[in-house]
Amino acid sequence: MDFKALIEKMTVREKVLQLLQLEPTFFAAVEDEFNTGPKRRWQLSDADIASTGTVINFSGASKLHGFQDDYMRKNPYGLPLMTMLDVIHGYRTVYPIPLGLAASWDMDIVRDCTAMAAKEASYDGIQLTFAPMVDLVRDARWGRVAESPGEDPLLCSDFARASVEGFQGDLGEGKLAACVKHYAAYGAAEAGRDYNTTDMSERTLREFYLPAYKAAIDAGATTVMSSFNAFNGVPSSGNKLLMKDILRDEWGFDGVTVSDYAAMWELIPHGVAADEKEAAYLSMEAGMDLEMMTVTYARHLEALIEEGKIDLKQLDEAVLRILKLKEKMNLYENPYHFADEKKVEEVTLCKQHRDLARRAAEACAVLLKNDGALPLNKRKCKIALIGPNANTGNMLGCWSGKGKDEETVTVLQGIKNLIGEGRVGYAQGCEIGLTTTDESMIPAAVDLAKTAETVVLCIGEHKWDTGESSSRMDITLTDVQLKLFDEIYKVNDNIVVVLFAGRPMDLRKIKDRARAILCMWWPGTEAGNATANLLFGEVVPSGKITMSFPWAVGQCPIYYNRFNTGRPRSDDWKRCSCQSAYIDGPNSPLYPFGYGLSYTTFEYSDLKLSADKMERGGVIKAGVKVKNTGDYKAKEVVQLYIRDLVGSVVRPIKELKGYQKIELDKGEEKLVEFTINEDMLAFYGADMTRKAEEGKFRVFIGTNSDVKEYLEFELL
Ligand code: GLC
Repeated sequence: MDFKALIEKMTVREKVLQLLQLEPTFFAAVEDEFNTGPKRRWQLSDADIASTGTVINFSGASKLHGFQDDYMRKNPYGLPLMTMLDVIHGYRTVYPIPLGLAASWDMDIVRDCTAMAAKEASYDGIQLTFAPMVDLVRDARWGRVAESPGEDPLLCSDFARASVEGFQGDLGEGKLAACVKHYAAYGAAEAGRDYNTTDMSERTLREFYLPAYKAAIDAGATTVMSSFNAFNGVPSSGNKLLMKDILRDEWGFDGVTVSDYAAMWELIPHGVAADEKEAAYLSMEAGMDLEMMTVTYARHLEALIEEGKIDLKQLDEAVLRILKLKEKMNLYENPYHFADEKKVEEVTLCKQHRDLARRAAEACAVLLKNDGALPLNKRKCKIALIGPNANTGNMLGCWSGKGKDEETVTVLQGIKNLIGEGRVGYAQGCEIGLTTTDESMIPAAVDLAKTAETVVLCIGEHKWDTGESSSRMDITLTDVQLKLFDEIYKVNDNIVVVLFAGRPMDLRKIKDRARAILCMWWPGTEAGNATANLLFGEVVPSGKITMSFPWAVGQCPIYYNRFNTGRPRSDDWKRCSCQSAYIDGPNSPLYPFGYGLSYTTFEYSDLKLSADKMERGGVIKAGVKVKNTGDYKAKEVVQLYIRDLVGSVVRPIKELKGYQKIELDKGEEKLVEFTINEDMLAFYGADMTRKAEEGKFRVFIGTNSDVKEYLEFELL
């Protein structure tokens, strides 16, 4: 298509409206109450709607043809709309929340799951997903940690890359355009309170928060979403440093930027724009293209251009980016982009998809504790399955697309599928949710617990208590769940806890008395089958947490790649004066980044380096032997950490620089090797240039970030 000629033909207003993104109801022919509400309030004419460029929250292959045909008939140039929706961790077949999926440390599974989601969604008429979300997170109080791959820049970057590859592929049939979000550093919300301000040095931004967005863009993400938060005083949608200097000029991103929902208008309550017109000005100056569900552009951009405050060229460039995005999706040739009702029927919740969702849930489950209670004996154990998360389809977590609880395998059903009906009893025990205090169901649960050999207690959070606008001041289990645990423990101390949550939780009140704790995150559509397979040892847990579990919420934000300080704590369990320490608890988390147990045991030995000096541009090989010393064939995530002992600025006490998920038979031993190169040692030094500085480095290879043994080498 000759975009230059088209843009020349379009009126300024028609161009401005290409930058608008509205909910589907605005396009409805009928004058429904919603239509006559905001549409009238926003003074949007039918001609305006006919020129609006994209639609959010549209889905339905059966509706798309009519919707698109009607729109294209009304559009002055016959241009197609582009449909966009949040497909975060599954469309109808829902797989684990990203904080869970990342805990698999398996990017093949991430790629396969996102490709599955893309197929189900694109056949159902969706063309772009507002994913992957790759905001690095360090504070479990923030509800949206559920959507993040965690606290490490390397792992977040790998997750970002694999997600874009899975969603987008060749952008052809069964594929979605990907929109990386929320740019930038939304996960650093002060006090873990959603939408709160973020403030950090440029070094922190570049070392920790930017790499994953960059990885998504380098993998070809077509779109970037600006975040709600103010970043160093300027909200992202109006932040030229982020949206232009770094994103466009430094990284060369030439795709589309889209605001988060109303985020451009929110420049007003943020206090950087006096009114909508100034919000429009600041957004356009920052290079914002698509305005999601507000009308600052639609109302004021023409005037800003007439007044010479915004150059028409800026508008034309934004319009060109959107027209090109539609071309990338081949919408001018095929405005339905392979939407196909028949294929929807074929692929949605098909066995292959359910199997993948189950395998993903199995691969990311983290065994936090096990004194030998697990795995349960499939043939003879008698179970009391208890808890508010034991027999519910409420297993999908936040942002679960079009997933339906009723299509979800409950834990009770999953256990029955595996061991039959006869040896599992069920009692709910209590409700879940922050406000529930009703203890009336506890006695029946206690009675059931008395009759069983093992209690499997399914607790955690309600899915609505994590995700957007679900920040918490306290991350413990609710009192009624703790009461349920206590009452059961009095009659049966053989308790296996299965945790369903969207964030690391403070488990201190149960961790010593529970015999085992299996974290399933929000596992998705195949929750019950995955949980049963893990409980009974059909599958051996291999997940590793990608976000530290705090010992107490007072430690937040807490993360493994911290700095040493000038007064490092000498003993985590003693009161230490004049050291960087709490007087009422440890500095260490309850469970560290990279932690996760197995039903087998692994022995690490013979750590070796190929040399103790590295020339500039050279490499060093680091190797360790890993042996399966237990009774189960199992997978282990072998992790490589490096510490730069002295730098021109303080350096983290450890940084993840590589990992390999390996499988070992009982008794099998493997040599696991990593190649360390100079770029792995580079960082933003005192002069803010990124390079490796000569000096000593420590190399750790272990089963989690708490690994102690190391060898040293020197970079010359
Ligand atoms: C929401 C979220 C964002 C989502 C967008 C569209 O407020 O912040 O992640 O993609 O709106 O639903």
